[in-house]
Amino acid sequence: MAVGKIIIAGNWKMHKTQAEALEFLTVLKSNVEETDEAREIVLCVPFTALSILSKSLHGGKVRLGAQNVHWEDQGAYTGEISGPMLTELGVDYVVIGHSERRQYFGETDETANLRVITAQRHGLTPILCVGETKQQRDAGEAESVIINQLQKGLVDVDQSKLVIAYEPIWAIGTGDTCDAEEANRIIKVIREQLSNQKVTIQYGGSVKPNNIDEIMKQSDIDGALVGGASLDPVNFARIVNYQ
Ligand code: 13P
Repeated sequence: MAVGKIIIAGNWKMHKTQAEALEFLTVLKSNVEETDEAREIVLCVPFTALSILSKSLHGGKVRLGAQNVHWEDQGAYTGEISGPMLTELGVDYVVIGHSERRQYFGETDETANLRVITAQRHGLTPILCVGETKQQRDAGEAESVIINQLQKGLVDVDQSKLVIAYEPIWAIGTGDTCDAEEANRIIKVIREQLSNQKVTIQYGGSVKPNNIDEIMKQSDIDGALVGGASLDPVNFARIVNYQ
């Protein structure tokens, strides 16, 4: 069940060379030939793999995503990437405000907001990530933290071309998945904050072949943002082809 369009995205983070990316794609493609067209498959890969994957994906059912975009179209911003650089490569999606960007690279709700607006201006669909730490959850602050992230992250944002990923930080890369029903509850809280009820809201955090069926059974979860398990094409295909 789902409310918005179903989107299963892999976030490769800082993994895979171009050669490894191509090898992955060959295996993935052969495992998603029968996948229901209603399920959008997205690979959010390092900048260096975008070009080669773009050429190999052309016309296929897998879409391409980046992991960051700067809010200026060009300028003296060493290490950043711009919207026109991404759209030229046929990129459709971009992950914004991931907790790793917030934790290690100083991303804030305000900079995430600028990036979301810029992504949309260039025709990219932003995947805005929100989620609480273990400490915030234990203090009963999960809802308020997420609502605050959304209020700041969505200022002046067009909700007709938007994806939100609920990624509880304590569930990322830990194998400690958020209980599917609890993820669904929080995703309902997120939906209450939105003016467009059809926004795709994904769950992310230790999504694996053995828990995706339960996750996608929930009423309000419209997809997944998959880290570690998206690095193996057979595992990722199993997630995409959830029952
Ligand atoms: P894992 O699936 O490795 O927990 O990572 C989740 C994530 O951060 C996706 O963006």
